[in-house]
Amino acid sequence: MVPKKITTHILQNMKSAGEKISMITAYDFSFAKLFDKAGIDVILVGDSASNVMAGHETTLPITLDQMIYHASSVIRGVSRCLVIVDLPFGSYQSNSKEALISAIRIMKETGAHGVKLEGGEEVMESVKRILAAGVPVMGHLGLTPQSIYKFGTYTVRAKEESEAAKLKSDAKLLEEAGCFAIVLEKIPALLAKEVAANLHIPVIGIGAGKYCDGQVLVMHDLLGINTEFKPRFLRQYLNLNEPITAAVEQYVRDVRSNSFPNEQEQY
Ligand code: KIV
Repeated sequence: MVPKKITTHILQNMKSAGEKISMITAYDFSFAKLFDKAGIDVILVGDSASNVMAGHETTLPITLDQMIYHASSVIRGVSRCLVIVDLPFGSYQSNSKEALISAIRIMKETGAHGVKLEGGEEVMESVKRILAAGVPVMGHLGLTPQSIYKFGTYTVRAKEESEAAKLKSDAKLLEEAGCFAIVLEKIPALLAKEVAANLHIPVIGIGAGKYCDGQVLVMHDLLGINTEFKPRFLRQYLNLNEPITAAVEQYVRDVRSNSFPNEQEQY
């Protein structure tokens, strides 16, 4: 059976039907292919590539060209998933024209299906302009890592009433502008529940509790490749770090002892 391609419309129907949406990050062809086969609904080419692929401390250094490289690799591995690409820091904050040019580059040069950007009211002009060009937009509120130097820490956001009220109003604005979904990162579960209940579009949580319409995790965290990052919200499904290290240690031993390659492994 040919798998049904996931569209933004299907995600909205999933919310209406109470079906939860699964989303994971990917940055290359091989993992994207595995995740697509495993039945993931949405792949996010996240600017977390800056951390987990490039080893930077924050998401700020990654460039639009680098995001385009990762996204075009992911797209080649996918036949069913919806692929959304983060607009990186500096590619949309200056003005709405720059935001539109960045979004168009992503769509034309990668073949991805939409973009994600961080923020609410302050980026609304850009959101509207990108949407007017026919590019699906996913919002991102709560802990927005591109603003880490403004927040100062990666702790839970919107615990205070004033920040929670702004988040709720931003979520409504993003929906009214025409965003097809919103990511809520690291906020109290009951706040995310209220936002999800008040919106018609899907709300995808990361550290935002069980009442969201779907969940997203960074692949390196979920698979236990990256073992230093252990926030409460993370469920680590594998500890790939150990078997990968063990396998490579064995390879090093085999090369050093000249037991690899053997007679059968040569021409
Ligand atoms: O870049 C990313 O991986 C993200 C997720 C944490 C939602 O934005």
